[in-house]
Amino acid sequence: MSKMLVLDQVCKTFNPGSVNEKVVLTDLSLELEKGDFVTIIGGNGTGKSTLFNAVSGNFYVDSGRVELDGQDITFLKDYQRANQIGRLFQDPLKGTAPNMTIEENLSLAYMRNTKGALRFGISAKERELFRQRLAMLDLGLEDRMKSKVGLLSGGQRQALTLLMATLVTPKLLLLDEHTAALDPATAEKVLNITKKIVEENGLTCMMITHNIGDALSLGNRTIMMDSGKIILDISGEERSQMTVPKLLEMFHQKSNKALDNDRILLAK
Ligand SMILES: Nc1ncnc2c1ncn2[C@@H]1O[C@H](COP(=O)(O)OP(=O)(O)OP(=O)(O)O)[C@@H](O)[C@H]1O
Ligand SMILES: [Mg+2]
Repeated sequence: MSKMLVLDQVCKTFNPGSVNEKVVLTDLSLELEKGDFVTIIGGNGTGKSTLFNAVSGNFYVDSGRVELDGQDITFLKDYQRANQIGRLFQDPLKGTAPNMTIEENLSLAYMRNTKGALRFGISAKERELFRQRLAMLDLGLEDRMKSKVGLLSGGQRQALTLLMATLVTPKLLLLDEHTAALDPATAEKVLNITKKIVEENGLTCMMITHNIGDALSLGNRTIMMDSGKIILDISGEERSQMTVPKLLEMFHQKSNKALDNDRILLAK
């Protein structure tokens, strides 16, 4: 099996040598097979988003190595990684341009990722591709392609951002609590869309969530982080037999404290 992502003993400390020194990632190693869908849970400030930042190249790691699909990307800048890595954030307002139409947003994403020459106008062929992809979301957006994105609801915008991030198949999709700001029904809808897009494209994906039920039911592997380390990594049989209470108990055993996350949800 080929590895899609390899993190080898990655370390990151913010503000080293100052009173604000903060060790965030400590010798973190992680390997993802192609097609892995990994859910990530952990307390507040344990380094989950920082892990994504290290993969996206928001900063260089202090030590260790980052490899994407066999390529050493440790010292590539974020914009040099961006066309291979799709990323969504909690805030539905990030990732789309409100004053541009749905089709213009999709066109931008398409051009960026196909390295197409910058040009004006959208071809009939592209418009048809966008229409097909939008129809997959089942939100009726295919009939509103000339609407400004700023008019969409948070859930619709998040679904569109997801589509933009995967319009050209990324090597890796990073979802950072991308449904946390949505109401429960909309969150579920966006999660179902996520599942569908990941499955249909065979994407390799990491999803941070505060919903432990979702963490266990989505994907094929779950990791738990505490103090910049992976303290639990389960898949296969062990994961399919895992329950929310059992997982919380394991967290307690490994970290000597209760899981502390202000957004944690034990639902499902
Ligand atoms: N650029 C930065 N400069 C200084 N400190 C930072 C920076 N980015 C993150 N940190 C600190 O690193 C720690 C880990 O932050 P991170 O955002 O990775 O946590 P998280 O696990 O995503 O938490 P949450 O569940 O609250 O989103 C926190 O203490 C945070 O304040
Ligand atoms: Mg975070």
